[in-house]
Amino acid sequence: MYLDVTKPGFDWRVGYKLFVGFVNPRPIALVSTINAAGQLNLAPFSFYNMVSGNPPVVMFCPSLNRNREPKHTYRNIAETGEFVIATVSEAIAPQMARTAAELPYGQSEFEFSGLTPAAAQLVKAPLVKESPMNLECRLRQIVAFGDQPAAGQVIFGDVLAAHIDDAVLTAERDQIDPRKLRTVGRLGGSYYCTVTEPWSLETPKV
Ligand SMILES: Cc1cc2nc3c(=O)[nH]c(=O)nc-3n(C[C@H](O)[C@H](O)[C@H](O)COP(=O)(O)O)c2cc1C
Repeated sequence: MYLDVTKPGFDWRVGYKLFVGFVNPRPIALVSTINAAGQLNLAPFSFYNMVSGNPPVVMFCPSLNRNREPKHTYRNIAETGEFVIATVSEAIAPQMARTAAELPYGQSEFEFSGLTPAAAQLVKAPLVKESPMNLECRLRQIVAFGDQPAAGQVIFGDVLAAHIDDAVLTAERDQIDPRKLRTVGRLGGSYYCTVTEPWSLETPKV
C-alpha cells in the first residue's frame, strides 16, 4: 500500500485509521482535570509521551472533536493550567475505557468509570487512586494544528511531582519494574496490549 496524504481530496479518516496502527503500541495518559467550578473530568489519551528529561516535560494531545470543538480535558487545562496523568495498568483498563465516554461537560468520568479521585499535593486536579503511578503537571505550552475535526492541540506539561506505588519498583527502588507494572498500550482500532514479557538489550558502549 502507498498513501499520498498530499493528494487533493485525500480523506483524513483513511489516513488516521492506518496511522494509529502505524505508531503503536502507544502509552495511555489517563488525564484528570478539574474546572473552575470544581467539576472533575477524566479521559484517556494515547497521543502521549515524555519529551524532556530535564526539565521533565510530558505531552499529550486532545484533538478537536468532529464538531471542531475542544475536548473537555483541553477546556479545563486551558482554564486552570493544571492536570494529573495516571498510568493505565492492566487492572484498571476496563475502567479506563469507560472514561472515554462522551459525557456532557461537567459530568465526572470518575463516577461513571468507578475510579476514585484522591487529593494531589501541588495541583487541584485529583490523582486516580487505583493507578500505580500519577504525575502532577502544570501547563507549559499548547501547540495547535488548525481548526478541522481531529486537529491536534498538543498540551505540554511540566511534571511537578510523581506518586509511584512502591509495589511497582525494582528491588533497588531506582526504576519501575515493567513486570510489576503491567502497563497497557493502545494499538489500532479497539485493540490493546499489556506489557507481560519485557526483555532487555544493551546499547553498545563505544
Ligand atoms: C485508549 C484511548 C486513547 C485515546 N486517545 C486519544 C487521543 O490521543 N486524543 C484524543 O483526542 N482522543 C483520544 N481518545 C478519545 C478521548 O478519550 C474521548 O474523546 C474522550 O471523550 C475525551 O474526553 P473529554 O472530552 O472529557 O476530554 C482516546 C480514547 C481511548 C479509549
